[in-house]
Amino acid sequence: MGIILGIFVSFIIFCTLAYQWIHKRLRFWSDRGFLQDNPSFPLGNLSCVGTKRTNTENLDYFYKKFKGKTPAVGLYNFLSPVILPIEPELVKNILVRDFNSFHDRGLFYNKEDDPIGANTLTLNGQDWKDRRVKLTPIFTSGKMKLMFELIDSLSDKMVRIIEDQLRNTNDLEMRSWLQRFTIDSIGNVAFGIEPNCLENENSEFGYFGRKLANITLFGIIKFIFGTEWPDFARKLGFGFCPKDVGDFFLKTFIQTIEFREKSNIKRNDFVSLLLGLKNEYTKEELAAEAFIIFFGGFETSSSLMTFLLYELALNPDIQDRLREEIANGIEENDGKLNYDMLLGLKYLDMVVNEGLRKYPPIPTPIRKCTKEYEIPNSNLVIPNGTIVLINAFSLQRDPEYFRDPDKFDPERFNAENIRNIKPFSNIPFGDGPRNCLGMRFGLMQSKLGIAKIVKNFMFQPGTRTQIPLKFNSTSPLLAPEKGMWLKVTRI
Ligand code: HEM
Repeated sequence: MGIILGIFVSFIIFCTLAYQWIHKRLRFWSDRGFLQDNPSFPLGNLSCVGTKRTNTENLDYFYKKFKGKTPAVGLYNFLSPVILPIEPELVKNILVRDFNSFHDRGLFYNKEDDPIGANTLTLNGQDWKDRRVKLTPIFTSGKMKLMFELIDSLSDKMVRIIEDQLRNTNDLEMRSWLQRFTIDSIGNVAFGIEPNCLENENSEFGYFGRKLANITLFGIIKFIFGTEWPDFARKLGFGFCPKDVGDFFLKTFIQTIEFREKSNIKRNDFVSLLLGLKNEYTKEELAAEAFIIFFGGFETSSSLMTFLLYELALNPDIQDRLREEIANGIEENDGKLNYDMLLGLKYLDMVVNEGLRKYPPIPTPIRKCTKEYEIPNSNLVIPNGTIVLINAFSLQRDPEYFRDPDKFDPERFNAENIRNIKPFSNIPFGDGPRNCLGMRFGLMQSKLGIAKIVKNFMFQPGTRTQIPLKFNSTSPLLAPEKGMWLKVTRI
């Protein structure tokens, strides 16, 4: 009887303490003078995610609700306090001016059990700085130019394969073709192999690439756990990505570089450029960088091209003008497409910029506060250790900065209008010292892919096109809910 009473009393004490702790935790922001919005246990401000809204739409909801009332609103991812800046000026301070207080991303990695996860995207502090300095020279436009031909031949292959598909049907799910193109492209330049995903959907590379992109609920929980309690997560052996995925990319890269070294092969690709750093980094560290080139580069570019095709299908006048520019450019260039000519296509650049504005593939870049930070002209202080969600999606769709924001209008980026865009209201590649390292490659690959298919095919809404389109609620990147079905006609 005494034991049962003891257990009962302990249980009551435990519940009371847990209740008090949770109650205090969910007042974290209001106790510090920030505005917050009725978080609930256990999801915090995520209770509508997956049911009513996607994560991006959820952040957009809070952005709109608190805009004009505060420079930054306090939110809770489960019980974890995070901050959502609202004013572009504060975004600028975080990304650029006061970068010293926000140089980390706060993403979880476990170098020991999952070496591939410790890379430029995830590393912190001096480790990140050193890596970034060493890697920056491999992304210059000169290096991109050398890779152009390889990507160009893959874009031709994509055109041929889409052409074959049209023998059976005009309704094609374009997102998966674009993913297969970018998997082949980055698999080729970052791992030195031919994934052959365009030909074979079930190729090993395609399988692991998709597994990487389709994060499961368990994966998300593990990730949040790792971000919140990194030391404990490391003890449990958690990694940045599933173990079989990490092992596959590690093994593939090491096999490639060993083969290249033995046979003394040099190619114009990231593998050779990374091999140039072999005296400074271990094979595992170089593999981690090849992995992040793949991870950062395949889904972002295919997402951008997917949404572009959707908008081009809905806006035939824009599509026609773009096709005309591409065709004229090729004709004036002796029937060939090359790097300088592609980058010189002004209307293509405007269309791509507008696609990135309306559909930033990474809608919410992240930073971690590494030094207590007082928000200028306020009495608000962001505590050390806080995760900061930079809401690119909402800024880029804010009617104050982009009139009629849901309209797809490339003219926003013509030579005259681009000068009037409010600084830090359009940040699809992030900004500051920790902005996207692969921007040049991403733009080259996406422009090339779009140029090739728009030149050869006409896109229209088909019977299966979702209009208006909805976003996928489980994807961390911006992705359409039901793929991208379009009616495709050979020109
Ligand atoms: C359209 C294509 C792409 C978009 C929209 C995009 C967007 C972004 C964004 C928003 C960030 C975070 C920036 C920040 O926090 O300020 C980022 C980081 C990064 N991206 Fe990209 N990206 C693209 C393509 C690529 C490609 C092709 C690569 C590799 C070849 C790449 C490699 C990286 C890396 C390594 C980082 C981490 C940089 C660091 O922490 O120092 N990205 N990207």
